[in-house]
Amino acid sequence: MEPLRCVVVGNVALGGSHAGVRFRHVPSVCGLEAAALMWETDAVVVDVDEVPAEDAGRLVTRYPHVPVVAVAPLERVPEALRWGATGVVVRPLDPETLAGEVRRAVVHLRRLREAARREVLQPLVRLRELVPADASPEAVLRRLAEIARVTVGADRAAAVTLDPEATDLAVAMAERRGSQTAEGFWTVVPMTLAQAPSGAQAEESHVASAPLATADRTLGALTVVREAHRQAFGPAERELLDVLGIVGALPLVQIDLLRKLQHGHRRLVEALAYACELHEASLRGHSERLASYAVAVGRRLGFSERDLEDLWVAGMLHDVGKIGISDTLLLKPGPLTPEEYQMVQRHTVMGAEILSAAGFGENVVRWVLHHHERWDGRGYPMGLTGSDIPAGARILAVADAYEVMTTGRVYRGPVLPGQALEELHRQRGAQFDPEVVAAFTESLASGELGWEAERWQARQPWR
Ligand SMILES: [Fe+2]
Repeated sequence: MEPLRCVVVGNVALGGSHAGVRFRHVPSVCGLEAAALMWETDAVVVDVDEVPAEDAGRLVTRYPHVPVVAVAPLERVPEALRWGATGVVVRPLDPETLAGEVRRAVVHLRRLREAARREVLQPLVRLRELVPADASPEAVLRRLAEIARVTVGADRAAAVTLDPEATDLAVAMAERRGSQTAEGFWTVVPMTLAQAPSGAQAEESHVASAPLATADRTLGALTVVREAHRQAFGPAERELLDVLGIVGALPLVQIDLLRKLQHGHRRLVEALAYACELHEASLRGHSERLASYAVAVGRRLGFSERDLEDLWVAGMLHDVGKIGISDTLLLKPGPLTPEEYQMVQRHTVMGAEILSAAGFGENVVRWVLHHHERWDGRGYPMGLTGSDIPAGARILAVADAYEVMTTGRVYRGPVLPGQALEELHRQRGAQFDPEVVAAFTESLASGELGWEAERWQARQPWR
């Protein structure tokens, strides 16, 4: 192993190598010479009788990467510790003991620096968890505020994002309350933010801000605040905040793109559903209502958010296969012949084929394929029974029947919700899954069916 390089300053008669440390003597360290010296050495030994305390302290402050070991008489040991000596050796001097102390000081400082580096890197690693499963910008902002607060040791931190298309700012706040963190999130109009009381007044040096920005976009800002009685933010903490601002902006951009993509996808689904309903006036809004009913029931039955999204798409496009069936058949007022009925039944298979070809997921394709199956096995296209029918398809069947009954068709007028519900209950265990009928009934009674419709209509991309 390479011996450690150690510069000895002052009147310490020491040279050569001792116990893995190569000593080099210099009478004093100052100016540029000191700078060059400090970047070439692993440690410095200072004789406290020769080097003034302020000079030794300056070495410690300016060159924090180099441990400084003091050689001092016993009575001056406290003084050396005060100016920040990493280690102290008491006179009379023994070269082996000094070499041992130098090695210990080097190892100690390296460990400290390693720990500090980990402390700095840890929050950056936590940024990986910034994009939550539901890709909510609110969750990202809350997390960013807390990571910023912990990383720079602030008492309060806020992450604010700007929305160029809206008038509101989204603000997430994290505040230290003892060992706990209190969080908050709200949206504000920028004008009121300027007028709002700022709470505890803080000195400028106790506030630090960094933009949440990528190379070409500024999305908002990160601000941290320290109580006035604490030490002000230093350059290293401000730089760290800058890094957090750059790294933290990326998930926000990512979510933005994802939302825009989802919005585009939804518009496509809505346009396709609209096209399917064009041929019959009484069908207008059928798919939208059916889809929102299905989502309410799916939510009650514990579907994940992702599955609910699929259920909404399957609900909107459940009859997309009717595009391939002639209007004269679909709008025929009288009963269908067996051949005609068989042709109409094909809309399930054609729908699944269209959606599969268009790249919709497996759930959507399967649920559309089976939305006319019956619990007792007398449905189509495959005559599946009970729980062999995919759950989403069982929900669509109930939602479809209720929607058709309550809005009516060319061949039959609408019935009241109570009557439709009675019919669903009559068909429990025959046409419909009893569990789905129960969930539907509960959703209807609790008003969820209406809320769900509103909720899905109100969904907007984030920006
Ligand atoms: Fe259908």
